Amino acid sequence: MTIALEMYDRLAEFLQAEIALQLGESRGYLVEHRLSPLLNRFGFDSLEDLIDVVIRERESTLVQAVIDAMVTCETSFFREPGTFDLLRTRVIPPLFEERQGRALRVWSGAAASGQEAYSVAMLLIDRFPSLARTANILATDVSSRMVQRTRLGWYSQLEIERGLPHPLARRFLTPEHNGYKVRPEVAALVSARQMNLARPWQMLGILDLVLLRNILIYFSPVVKASIAEQLIRHLAPGSVLVMATAESLPGVDGRFEKVVPSEPHVLRFRG
Ligand SMILES: C[S@@+](CC[C@H](N)C(=O)[O-])C[C@H]1O[C@@H](n2cnc3c(N)ncnc32)[C@H](O)[C@@H]1O
Repeated sequence: MTIALEMYDRLAEFLQAEIALQLGESRGYLVEHRLSPLLNRFGFDSLEDLIDVVIRERESTLVQAVIDAMVTCETSFFREPGTFDLLRTRVIPPLFEERQGRALRVWSGAAASGQEAYSVAMLLIDRFPSLARTANILATDVSSRMVQRTRLGWYSQLEIERGLPHPLARRFLTPEHNGYKVRPEVAALVSARQMNLARPWQMLGILDLVLLRNILIYFSPVVKASIAEQLIRHLAPGSVLVMATAESLPGVDGRFEKVVPSEPHVLRFRG
């Protein structure tokens, strides 16, 4: 099956407007691969029909299914372990000093299936137990399927083997249905809800630690600028923003400083 160029362009425009996803050119194979499974489920004969209806009618279940199918949800526990070492040694200790007596608020802003949020929860319980007692980690994603997965907190053997150290797996997971479920003490720190970073942000409050990792690379400079503007409203001086190693947030010069000079993706908010 090949998708007509005109429909490809309409879908790309739709996804850009809805979730700021930049599909780029010549990725028809990707669209076909990801949307084909929806044909049977929603009773369409062709991808063109599906795309046409989703754009014209904007029926929420179908729109969400298309978004869920089109986003890239690659993630793992303790992804980029060097960043988690920095969290442990240079980021969380000062937050701990400053915020004693007040709950630590963490946000994983494109959380995929939740491994990032649960990694932070495990790190806190393991290394900063008194901070963990009141910490609150919010995991959000535009994909409803990913939010459900985070809430479930169940992972396959393969997902566990990708990054979760054995001692933490033994301590924080319980075998369940041919995989593993995070234990209640870890799950208790994490809540999950749907949120589109490309729309006005709501109900985030003031945050101490923000993880926006492996998401900014998908956005245009204009969208990144709007994210920077919104983010700053949710930070107090001393709060920390963590991106993926290859990512940056333009337009925030002077507002942040590097936590470690050699690591420009981990930034402390100056205020
Ligand atoms: C590559 S994953 C990154 C997961 C995790 N942060 C990590 O670094 O492992 C990107 C996630 O961003 C989500 N996403 C894409 N566009 C989004 C948007 N506009 N708002 C919120 N989440 C979005 C996708 O659904 C996907 O789960």
